[in-house]
Amino acid sequence: VSLAGRNTFRVAARAAMMADVSRADALAELFEFAMLREGPVLVLGEGSNLLFAGDFPGVAICLTMAGVRIVQDDGDTALVRADAGMNWNDLVGWTLARGLCGLENMALIPGTVGAAPIQNIGAYGVEVGEFIETVEAFQRDTGQIKRIAAADCAFAYRDSVFKRESERWVVTAIELRLPRRRELRLDYAGVKEELAAMGVDTPRAVHVAEAISRIRTRKLPNPAVLGNAGSFFKNPLVAAATADALKAAHPALPVFPAGEGQRKLSAGWLIEAAGWKGFREGDAGVAPQHALVLVNHGQATGAQLLDLARRIAASVQERFGVALEPEPRIIGARFDGGA
Ligand code: EPU
Repeated sequence: VSLAGRNTFRVAARAAMMADVSRADALAELFEFAMLREGPVLVLGEGSNLLFAGDFPGVAICLTMAGVRIVQDDGDTALVRADAGMNWNDLVGWTLARGLCGLENMALIPGTVGAAPIQNIGAYGVEVGEFIETVEAFQRDTGQIKRIAAADCAFAYRDSVFKRESERWVVTAIELRLPRRRELRLDYAGVKEELAAMGVDTPRAVHVAEAISRIRTRKLPNPAVLGNAGSFFKNPLVAAATADALKAAHPALPVFPAGEGQRKLSAGWLIEAAGWKGFREGDAGVAPQHALVLVNHGQATGAQLLDLARRIAASVQERFGVALEPEPRIIGARFDGGA
């Protein structure tokens, strides 16, 4: 089965088999098949956060259920339940249209609802983990659907228990507690300026979603036009002393607070400073407008994109002494080249 249309990098990889699943309670039966019980399984959403380094030797599962409803409402907040197959940005719009806020800063993030908790998606100063009350997931080793409270999801920057134990879980639905009123988060660079440019002086959540959609459209290549998976690297976390030394040597380097004794550096800045922005070799390249985004200009293979990513990481390591980690999942290879 070709996966070319099922990953936003548009890499022409293949899977041994593919199964569409439209009901969470069908998963138990599906996983009775030996190929799924014993072999490798990949849960595919919109394929917007992965890179196929080669063909996938197992079964790709695609969850198609896409229902959404309010399951509980106390006036101030509502509990929204959305199925894994729903498009994330559709959920953002659905909640805003019902006067619920919180997700506005995460407008236009590509991908499905089911993928959102796996890497704890986030943008413009907000992460989905802040709103998740429960994740519902099929547990492969017990064959049961489990309800996992947010506190047990180990949400962290682009990380969760579902990412760490990716072979074990198939996320089937999420439940988000969303407020009707909340202080908007506008401190991320560029958001206030965009609202001002829109002529909005008393912004509401819908305006913020619109402003952020505009910024994203301008800054990030549209995967429907140019294959990419968003940020290819995480912004690296380093010790405060390391950040101070780098900042002294490179005053323009953006440095953000990141918990006790730690700082987050801008990977985009480091990659641009190492000279990679807009780089292209064959069809594998770095986006001209954002150094953190690798792009496929047409026929690049996953292996070529991975090779480029490794060269970028090596050059940032050599130049700044900072290790970059990939942000999307890499299927069929390890980034560090190990087995
Ligand atoms: N920068 C450069 N050169 C570049 C790109 C960025 O110097 O080519 C510097 C600029 O100083 C800029 C700063 O980096 O002000 C931050 O850039 P940006 O606002 O684009 O954010 P980012 O840190 O590069 C992160 C997320 C994005 C998310 C944005 C906004 C990660 C890995 N990436 O990018 O998420 O949209 O913040 O919140 O945390 C994704 O995960 O796929 C993704 C796109």
